[in-house]
Amino acid sequence: MRSLPGAKHKRFLGKRFLIVIGRPIPRVSCSESADLRLAQGFGMLTEPMRNFVRELDRLHREAADPQARAERVSERLRSLLAADDVLDPRHTEPDPRAYRQHLVHVDAQGRFSVVALVWLPGQETPIHSHVCWCVVGVLTGLEAETRYQLDPVTGELAETERAINMPGDVCWLVPPDEDIHKVRNDGQSIAVSLHVYGTDIGRLGSSINRTYREPIPVASSKA
Ligand SMILES: [Fe+2]
Repeated sequence: MRSLPGAKHKRFLGKRFLIVIGRPIPRVSCSESADLRLAQGFGMLTEPMRNFVRELDRLHREAADPQARAERVSERLRSLLAADDVLDPRHTEPDPRAYRQHLVHVDAQGRFSVVALVWLPGQETPIHSHVCWCVVGVLTGLEAETRYQLDPVTGELAETERAINMPGDVCWLVPPDEDIHKVRNDGQSIAVSLHVYGTDIGRLGSSINRTYREPIPVASSKA
């Protein structure tokens, strides 16, 4: 996971944990609704979002590989977060059952998608990896992110970092490196973040590649 310079993250070094082998992939772990089949045109997009997705098309063509695309999109997303009225209010509606995914836009060729994720206080994702590059920017609220690294030999999942992502913060990830994480709304109010994925989320339903059970902390050697 990379962050743009100047992002106001608070980080804490994590400790190592034993992993419980990951479960088979549930394609969507969040609240899924007809939103996934809507809004694929420009009809529900605000003017700042329309301009943003037009530029995504250009950035995608200009950048040669996923890493370069994610970096370029990160820069543009940061400026979008500073705009007013970024999302149609319908794309900020929560679900009391689980965090909610709103599909905001899908590229006509399926090369990228824009998704709004909405969390009520205490709602969280499972620990998961991703199917493609992803850029995340916080629009509203406070998102606590925990990142992990999987040791392919020992099967241990190690917590590597914790970050508090505030409004305006932008970060990105490019699988397979450093792309296992969990996100939770640790604030007292609703949290909304924008996600740009390098694939067709309308077709896949989710960017999640695989989920993992919570790791079991290693027992202390002290009595
Ligand atoms: Fe994620």
